[in-house]
Amino acid sequence: MKILSVVGARPNFMKIAPFVAELDRIRRLHDLDLSHVLVHTGQHYDPSLSDRFFEELGIPAPTHHLEVGSGTHAYQVGMTMIKFEPVLLEERPDWVIVVGDVNAACACSLTAKKHQFRVAHIEAGLRSNDWSMPEEINRVVTDRLSDLLFTTCDFSGANLRAEGVAENRIVKVGNIMIDTLKRQEAMAAGRDLAAIVREHLLDGSLPDGFQMTPEQYGLLTLHRPSNVDSPETLSMLVDLIVELSGDLDILFPVHPRTLDRLKQYGLKDALQTRGRVVLLNPLGYLDMLALTRRARIFLTDSGGIQEECCIVGTPCLTLRSNTERPATLAEHGGTNYLVGNDPERVRAAFHSLRETPRQPRQPPLWDGQTAARIVDRLVLQSDQS
Ligand code: UD1
Repeated sequence: MKILSVVGARPNFMKIAPFVAELDRIRRLHDLDLSHVLVHTGQHYDPSLSDRFFEELGIPAPTHHLEVGSGTHAYQVGMTMIKFEPVLLEERPDWVIVVGDVNAACACSLTAKKHQFRVAHIEAGLRSNDWSMPEEINRVVTDRLSDLLFTTCDFSGANLRAEGVAENRIVKVGNIMIDTLKRQEAMAAGRDLAAIVREHLLDGSLPDGFQMTPEQYGLLTLHRPSNVDSPETLSMLVDLIVELSGDLDILFPVHPRTLDRLKQYGLKDALQTRGRVVLLNPLGYLDMLALTRRARIFLTDSGGIQEECCIVGTPCLTLRSNTERPATLAEHGGTNYLVGNDPERVRAAFHSLRETPRQPRQPPLWDGQTAARIVDRLVLQSDQS
């Protein structure tokens, strides 16, 4: 059997690492005729958003690198399809595996299905029902085209059933990103937090008297177009973060898109000079996990961070009005609170949650064994597909 898997952007790498490792383990264990081809579309190309994750997570070098790079959505999806097609026809895999909701998943599942290749989607069935998110379009298209849909939780399965997906195509396997977290947590725990900050300082100096003390800082990430692409919204968020940092130092690893916008709207200096916000360059996986597991609180518009916070027990304020990951919400037993970007709500939640004790939560099957369940279904029970 030949399996081809696709990655394109930062959030894909922690999802593919356990899958690739498990394929290798099972091949050796059962002496299988099983080969694996890894395609990197190149949507993320900066070493800090790509290469570093391959090294840290032990992902083998891609067999094919499509070097698609940045551009509009039409450019990225179109270029990925054009460059993926000859690779697909040369490799002729038995399965094409796509993960998550980035443009690579949508473009490659579409290309594969047009040529009648079987597609499996890892992290299927997530729905924000917010069609202004490019990721929501990618999720719906990818799921519609996939032959096998590996889901993280019951919510995802219910979404797929409501869309008419046949029962035998839905397989609940748990959250593969948590396999990576569990595998790396001991290593992350050994990191020196002060050294992480020192080594990633974006520029400028630290706030007066800044001490890197576990549990005495907040973390922030922002990159969604809905938060960073409008000067009014970003400026309002900057004012709010500056205000909150008066009560708790805030570390802010800045995504390249957000850094561009902060500079473009003249907000970068305000963030650095008016509050106690520490701007950092993008972090690798281990450094980010090290900071996440000892943060007092996390403010974010990311998807995966909502899930990671649950497992390590860090209260998470999600600066969005919806989430495709309801299993992480406090009302479903998680540590995540949807607060949108309304200053009143964010402020109130921030002050109450930063006093809340750390309470790790593990949804069913987010146990570090998800890759094993996926490979079992895909390879060892292949006669069912
Ligand atoms: C992409 C994903 C998003 C994911 C995010 C994580 C889609 C639709 N979006 O968004 O779901 O949460 O990755 O980071 O697939 N840039 C660099 N270096 C790079 C890559 C990008 O500087 O290596 C800059 C470029 O200015 C680029 C901008 O970042 O235009 C945005 O990159 P892009 O890949 O278009 O989307 P993300 O916002 O990163």
